[in-house]
Amino acid sequence: MALFLAFLSIFALTVGACHAALPADVYWNSVLPNTPIPSAIRHVIRSGVFVDDMDSVCAFFRYAATQSQIQDPSVTVFFLEKDLHPGANMTFHFTRTTTGATLLARELADSIPFSSAKLPEILSRLSIAPDSVQAETMKKILLECEEPAIDGEIRYCATSVESMVDFSTSSLGTRNVEALSTTVDRKAPPKQVYTISKVQKLPTSKLVVCHSENYAYAVFHCHTACAEAYKVSMVGKDGTKVEAVAACHTDTDGFNPEHVAFKVLNVKPGTVPICQFQPQNDIVWSPNTLSISPLEMVV
Ligand SMILES: *[C@@H]1O[C@H](CO)[C@@H](O)[C@H](O)[C@H]1NC(C)=O
Repeated sequence: MALFLAFLSIFALTVGACHAALPADVYWNSVLPNTPIPSAIRHVIRSGVFVDDMDSVCAFFRYAATQSQIQDPSVTVFFLEKDLHPGANMTFHFTRTTTGATLLARELADSIPFSSAKLPEILSRLSIAPDSVQAETMKKILLECEEPAIDGEIRYCATSVESMVDFSTSSLGTRNVEALSTTVDRKAPPKQVYTISKVQKLPTSKLVVCHSENYAYAVFHCHTACAEAYKVSMVGKDGTKVEAVAACHTDTDGFNPEHVAFKVLNVKPGTVPICQFQPQNDIVWSPNTLSISPLEMVV
């Protein structure tokens, strides 16, 4: 594994030397010249998918609360949309769960199989022991990626930034997009009170959310979602500055009433929007409708 990654780094360096930038950066900037690359991608889909009705897409809150989710009641994980306003104080503990995995260029990523049926071949190619914890984690991720999408949702596991860009833009039906991730300006801030200084609502509820997976290399598990999204600035008691992306699920009708969010907030599904901040490794894609021009729409 170490050898393989060392090889990859050399590969990346060589490519970098020739092109003066990583291929993913070049691809991003050629496709999305007006969309800054979010911090989460500094660490990783098939084109041709097009949805014209995202309003039926609601994929959250399907699963019941597990014990591990009910951890520390003094830390805010879920909150109500009405509580999201400048001057509000909330207690958060921003932690980063995964470190940045090696990002593969699309050509390389595409040359490695990505399916649970080919796990033995994958492990052998990456020199990973079949009975290792890492092999078990990879198997779990592959199986999750192969789960059928729920009604109205589109899902895709992207093994390169290039394929994530293609999936997100084709799913949103435009290349005029915002790609946002939560950024925290200190490495490991303590659990503390944050005061919200600014709240900006995104002009649309069509989103693609991509989660970084802890695979052998960078993999983004992306899915479409309908939620109100906000850019939120806040400052911690110790001065930590956070630019966060919040997603508020407005249509919680039909969601599992046993979900931890309803328990913690003491509300019933379908009554009020429920919000959460996206983890730092997530990327939230949304159409940039403020400056959209019909020419930029992908048809
Ligand atoms: C939030 O905390 C700040 C700093 O401790 C305090 O000045 C402010 O009054 C608090 N706001 C509310 C709404 O409690």
